[in-house]
Amino acid sequence: MSIEGAKHVGERGESEIAELVNRELPKTSVTGYIFIMNMIFKRRSVRDFLPGPVEKEKIERILRAAFEAPSAHNRRPWEFLVVTEQEKREAIAGMSPWAKMCPSAAAVIACCADLKKGDPEYETGGASEDALWEQDLSAATENALLQITEEGLGGVWLGWYPDGDKVKAFRDYFKLPAHIVPVALVALGYPARESRPRDRYDPEKVHWESWN
Ligand SMILES: Cc1cc2nc3c(=O)[nH]c(=O)nc-3n(C[C@H](O)[C@H](O)[C@H](O)COP(=O)(O)O)c2cc1C
Repeated sequence: MSIEGAKHVGERGESEIAELVNRELPKTSVTGYIFIMNMIFKRRSVRDFLPGPVEKEKIERILRAAFEAPSAHNRRPWEFLVVTEQEKREAIAGMSPWAKMCPSAAAVIACCADLKKGDPEYETGGASEDALWEQDLSAATENALLQITEEGLGGVWLGWYPDGDKVKAFRDYFKLPAHIVPVALVALGYPARESRPRDRYDPEKVHWESWN
């Protein structure tokens, strides 16, 4: 069995995991064990998709994962717009030079912030320093990408906010209310090819206790 085809660790016995680690990963790879255990290490940006849809149950599980993200003050200011129709995905591709994969994706999920929930000063016309909705939405977006990986799918994060042109184009096309901000889009589908896990840990960028 390839690493890519690995079952969730919870479905494996310890001896099966040990056998996989010995057989398939370099013996020197300390993180090899993690590759099998953790979707974080398996997630890669996927921009080439097989034709065809993704099951609605999978999309719902991806959204459930997004809803479980941590959120400042537990405001959970997210709303999600799921787009599967071809014409709409093509329209999204026309809004950003870096969204060209959308027409061949099965779906695009727009991870949006509801400023009425995410910004304590929205109703009074201000932008609160405590408005942490960008971070909330980023956490939700990453959760979605991890569940996409868990589902055997592939996806890519498309940065949207704070690019005013992209936000306006998306808002106009989908007729979003003014208090809804598309923060990040995720294009997803069945990957056209396998991605290999990577280890990008860099001890020089980790500072223990002080900077030097
Ligand atoms: C905030 C953000 C915005 C991104 N925007 C785009 C985008 O518009 N188009 C795209 O193809 N990839 C986009 N990406 C994906 C990155 O290019 C990708 O994560 C990076 O190259 C690392 O590769 P990996 O995801 O496979 O680890 C974005 C990622 C982040 C976190």
